[in-house]
Amino acid sequence: MNKVIAKEQLAEEVYRMRVHAPLIAEERRPGQFVIVQQDTDYGERIPLTIADADTDEGSITLIFQSVGKSTHKLAELEPGDAINNVVGPLGKPTHIENFGTAVCVGGGIGAAPLYPIAQALKEAGNHLTVIIGARNAELMILEDEMRAIADELIVCTDDGSHGRKALVTEPLKEVCERDPRPDLAVAIGPPVMMKFCAGTTRPYEVPTVVSLNTIMIDGTGMCGGCRVTVGGETRFVCVDGPEFDGHQVDFDNMIQRLGTYKPLEDDEHEQCHL
Ligand code: FES
Repeated sequence: MNKVIAKEQLAEEVYRMRVHAPLIAEERRPGQFVIVQQDTDYGERIPLTIADADTDEGSITLIFQSVGKSTHKLAELEPGDAINNVVGPLGKPTHIENFGTAVCVGGGIGAAPLYPIAQALKEAGNHLTVIIGARNAELMILEDEMRAIADELIVCTDDGSHGRKALVTEPLKEVCERDPRPDLAVAIGPPVMMKFCAGTTRPYEVPTVVSLNTIMIDGTGMCGGCRVTVGGETRFVCVDGPEFDGHQVDFDNMIQRLGTYKPLEDDEHEQCHL
């Protein structure tokens, strides 16, 4: 049982929770995630990136969007309540070094897993450009946090209600056209956004890391639920990832697999709001 220490709503259906998990807080590295399960008999297992950790408090910070029945139940928890199962840290940590210049791109809730990576890249000495985008101003998260660590922050919204009216690929292309080009790009967000970010950086040969958020069940490489195709080979996001070379990921295959349970998820989500 992991007690919820604090809860805050960051945007429409997006929540930040500080959860007591001292061992995970001690061990976690940027890029790693936990699997959270509230209903331990039949409940879905939800992979969530560890957005931050406080070893003094013994807590980890999780940021999630209430998009289905399980995340909706999670969002109903209040400080003092407990999450029944938090397993982690899982996955491989991000490879961090001083690459030179790095551009980090976060789309929507993707800004949450991006934040600890951007923070670590900055601490390693990289010149850091951060681009964050959302559909509109209300859905923008972690802008102040990103501004505090980035050398340059570009904010954009699809509808122009905040920052620049653009998709994140537009400023990303401009950054790639600079001389010198960035030494590394990291893109995290909806699969279609990561697909187009990888497509944007490819002609400029900017190495591009993406963090994949697939369906997960056991988180140990046994069930195959999280399999993706990378460079023509089957890889498991939970043990081989979650980060992969964005130029090698078969995003179309991943998007198709993610759509399998979408009608069921939409149904359950609707029930939660009735
Ligand atoms: Fe089962 Fe990755 S979640 S193999």
